[in-house]
Amino acid sequence: MPKVTAFTCGARFGNSEIFAKVALQALQRMGIETELIRLNDCDLRPCIGCPNKLCSKGPEHCIHKDDGGWLTYKFFESDGDLISAPVWSLAPTSIVSVFRDRVFGYKADIAGWERRGVPQWAEGMKKQRPGALISVGGALTRHWTSLSMATLYTTAFSTQTNIVDQMDVWGVSAHGEAVQHPDLMLRAKYLGENLGHALLNPQIDWTGKFLGDDDGEACPSCHLSLLLARPGNDYVECAVCGRRGKVDLIDGKLSYTWPEDKQNRLTMMGKFDHMREIERHGMMRQSYTEAEQAQLDELKRWNDCVLTPPSRQRKAE
Ligand SMILES: Cc1cc2nc3c(=O)[nH]c(=O)nc-3n(C[C@H](O)[C@H](O)[C@H](O)COP(=O)(O)O)c2cc1C
Repeated sequence: MPKVTAFTCGARFGNSEIFAKVALQALQRMGIETELIRLNDCDLRPCIGCPNKLCSKGPEHCIHKDDGGWLTYKFFESDGDLISAPVWSLAPTSIVSVFRDRVFGYKADIAGWERRGVPQWAEGMKKQRPGALISVGGALTRHWTSLSMATLYTTAFSTQTNIVDQMDVWGVSAHGEAVQHPDLMLRAKYLGENLGHALLNPQIDWTGKFLGDDDGEACPSCHLSLLLARPGNDYVECAVCGRRGKVDLIDGKLSYTWPEDKQNRLTMMGKFDHMREIERHGMMRQSYTEAEQAQLDELKRWNDCVLTPPSRQRKAE
């Protein structure tokens, strides 16, 4: 039986959790095993970006001995995932970013797995994995949720999770208010069913397939409209998937056409493109000159301005 793991944030029994549970109940009715992890219950410290990338040997090698390794295996053992989070200051609560950086990132980059082989720790865990996202904002307009779904989507890149549905909620703010919005509760049920449909049909390649409502969003890949529009260009770039679209004004209204683009980071080629860019950078880099090395050493030694936080002072006592 396939299994969906939901990762929820925000208040315990809050709106994000309620919508996630409604989706999970729909999945259960389809015969799918479900589990829910409250990220706020986890001991999860931020990735410190250690230069020797300890976790590439396996999550248990991470410098942090917390719930990060367990969460990583929970994700990779699942057949599909659901992430549900409230909007705080336009973006999802910060634990989503910590979760993304600890669970995914370099070690989980399946473009690397495809080129160099699946690492031992992840054997049997490379699979087509559909996912769904729920963002819950309290503001009465969408205007105050602008970075939320886009940031939630960044959890999908390295593992090539196929986001088959996403639910961008606004205007639900009081604790538990979700249940007072039957339309949204129904939408959460549909989201669960859409995820379930993808899971029960693994013979279909779900890459780029979307079962949610399009709602007239600009980008046909990630179904969002957060676009980079730099002056002097005749194209926009999707801030999330990186795809480029040509811009036109038709009857005074913005209109886009989206040629296939190898920059699209939702595709394996988009990830290869990025990997090759990193490799090129590595190849082009010269070793440090004596002067550069001396400057580096001098800056490492210069710690006069660095404060020691009280918790570290207590440990030293
Ligand atoms: C610190 C904080 C910042 C918030 N910022 C936003 C915001 O920028 N935009 C928005 O729409 N709602 C914002 N909200 C409202 C929450 O998104 C909303 O209450 C949501 O329903 C909480 O979800 P939960 O019940 O799952 O915790 C904020 C709430 C808090 C506590």
